[in-house]
Amino acid sequence: MTMRSKLMLGNWKMNGSLADNASLVSELLAGMAGVHCHAAVCVPTAYLAQLQNLLAGSALELGAQDVSAHESGPFTGEVSAKMLQDFAVRYCIVGHSERRRYHAESDALVATKAQRALAAGITPVVCVGESLAEREAGQTERVVKRQLAAVIHANGHCISEIVVAYEPVWAIGTGLTATPEQAQQVHAVLRAQLQAATAHADRVSILYGGSMSAATSADLLAQPDVDGGLIGAAALKASDFLALLETASR
Ligand code: PGA
Repeated sequence: MTMRSKLMLGNWKMNGSLADNASLVSELLAGMAGVHCHAAVCVPTAYLAQLQNLLAGSALELGAQDVSAHESGPFTGEVSAKMLQDFAVRYCIVGHSERRRYHAESDALVATKAQRALAAGITPVVCVGESLAEREAGQTERVVKRQLAAVIHANGHCISEIVVAYEPVWAIGTGLTATPEQAQQVHAVLRAQLQAATAHADRVSILYGGSMSAATSADLLAQPDVDGGLIGAAALKASDFLALLETASR
């Protein structure tokens, strides 16, 4: 048995409004009594100040969805790790497949982003995952190991401070959840890779993401190397997200 308690992160992506966020959070906070896992919501940058206020003093923590690879300066539109720190951001997703795909983020860039987050005391949630074509070509392990290797290489002894999220691209937003066996197999590969890099690999939470729902979460979370979830669609509805948090609290 491991001592890692479960970590459940909501990824709101580009959704929400001042009014919708306020009602979602008030419903979530009202339902947190039976929740004993670690939980956070990763919100659009524009709403960090609002969420910092709404979540103050609660058990629900604050996360961001991306961070600049630069410290400061002429990078129009970007947001630095130090700025996230100003809003008491605890987690920051880096290398989500939507960033890799629509913004051509490379493994090296993602590794630098993880470095910036760590330097600001923010836990980077490093996303890795294969496309359907890569899985069908038998390349799943090769792809996720390459993605994680870049982050390990750039972050050395700090590597035990990261969170990893395995998100098969074919499972994101598709309703196609990986089976518990498929997830565990990849999580074990990632754990072994971390073990080769640090004596503290047991401390690293490896989350599963991709159409995680109340129906699919219990079997996924029961796997020895599945330490929580990164949840998109189901994080936008209070009852769905709370059901997931309750499953993770068992
Ligand atoms: P999903 O998204 O739960 O809607 O599949 C997960 C993610 O992209 O982080």
